[in-house]
Amino acid sequence: MLSQQDLKQQAADAAVALIRPLLVADAVIGVGTGSTADLFIDGLGRFRGQFRAAVASSERSAARLRGLGIEVLDLNEVASLSVYVDGADEINAKLQMVKGGGGALTREKIVASAARQFICIADASKLVDQFGKFPLPIEVLPIAREVVARAVRKLGGQPVLRAGFVTDNGNQVLDVSGLTILDACLLESTLNSVPGVVTNGLFALRPADVALLATQQGVRQL
Ligand code: A5P
Repeated sequence: MLSQQDLKQQAADAAVALIRPLLVADAVIGVGTGSTADLFIDGLGRFRGQFRAAVASSERSAARLRGLGIEVLDLNEVASLSVYVDGADEINAKLQMVKGGGGALTREKIVASAARQFICIADASKLVDQFGKFPLPIEVLPIAREVVARAVRKLGGQPVLRAGFVTDNGNQVLDVSGLTILDACLLESTLNSVPGVVTNGLFALRPADVALLATQQGVRQL
């Protein structure tokens, strides 16, 4: 029986194998955040020097990349990324995701938007029929925390401030449970239109292109 850690490793290894042809001299790779993305970064380290650089979705991932000798570029220095690889907290069959358990959701969404292809890596327990078990993270400007919390309650959610946590952008995160997410695209837009919301953890308007989900029987590609 493979552990969850083994499954994450398999998904990360599958992503490295899948993007191997893209690791060419001028390639810049978009890199996500989290425990599965960490394993992908370690795999990428084996090909250091064979591609130009990476763009990271968090300070944490940037430090890990640099530690392996991979150059990290600011997104503003890069016209486009060949691929973005990241984990997820939940993913559905349409490859829409809930992300942000690690609090890096805003930079993840921005870096992903610059990539030609989004590859989601996870163990298969993240595949769900309906979103909502994992609380939906919303990054908020600190001044707007209570305004946003009230708007979220009107939508049926129960927001909880992520205590003691500050994002790489200097903001706070509300983790929202209790939402019935029937139309993820609509909810993503609705939440993002609340003044003070920086972004929310629904990645539905721009879903992944490929999901590599590790099961006990091997990696399943969706
Ligand atoms: C980070 O902010 C998140 O979006 C992660 O991608 C997500 O939480 C998955 O993390 P793990 O790979 O640690 O499960």
